[in-house]
Amino acid sequence: MLLTLLTASCAQTSAPVSEGDAALSVIMNRRSVRTFSGEKLSQEQIDMLLKAAMAAPTDGNVQPWEFVVVTDKDIVEAVFGQGRRADMYRNAGAVIIVCGHTTRLRIPRGEPDAAPVETPNGSWYEDCSCAAENLLLAAEAQGLGAVWMSAYPNEQKMAGIVEYFHLPADVLPLAIIPVGYPAGDEQPKDKWAPEKVHYNKW
Ligand SMILES: Cc1cc2nc3c(=O)[nH]c(=O)nc-3n(C[C@H](O)[C@H](O)[C@H](O)COP(=O)(O)O)c2cc1C
Repeated sequence: MLLTLLTASCAQTSAPVSEGDAALSVIMNRRSVRTFSGEKLSQEQIDMLLKAAMAAPTDGNVQPWEFVVVTDKDIVEAVFGQGRRADMYRNAGAVIIVCGHTTRLRIPRGEPDAAPVETPNGSWYEDCSCAAENLLLAAEAQGLGAVWMSAYPNEQKMAGIVEYFHLPADVLPLAIIPVGYPAGDEQPKDKWAPEKVHYNKW
């Protein structure tokens, strides 16, 4: 039933989705949601969002992510209560900050017995982006809405979060994701652009 509804409401008319494919329906129906009802999320809903995020692929399977889940309304107010999007954050069921370790421990190449050395993890934001997208899709799959609000690479935004939550020295916030029950009528956009596809040559 849910699948039928999702498929029927799919706005991506030029990219038909078969009724049998729930995953594709979720992908094609995801849209950024910035207005929320204020309804709380259950722990099970939040856990599912985080499990989906942590199912993402990562370079070398390093899984450099960390997640700050903000459900306390006083903290939401303190961190996100200023600016033109304040109501978006206030009415979300949770605000999930996707963070990543910007360094990783590596055994020096050719020295299998050496102690691991802390080195920059150049893939942290790609890895955490995969997690963030999975989280957005898991929100859609649960009948929720969400939007990726940028933190990285905005120095000022990142600094505010690092400072408030006392993030460890090598951890940076990538994306701030308010998630909750949609209160508006945001629709998926049709982005299918065959002219952007280049088979075998440019
Ligand atoms: C890296 C990234 C940063 C984004 N930052 C913001 C942001 O700071 N504020 C915002 O309102 N939306 C932000 N978005 C959401 C985009 O505006 C949105 O995905 C885009 O307009 C396409 O719309 P759709 O998500 O509904 O398909 C961001 C999305 C990405 C992937």
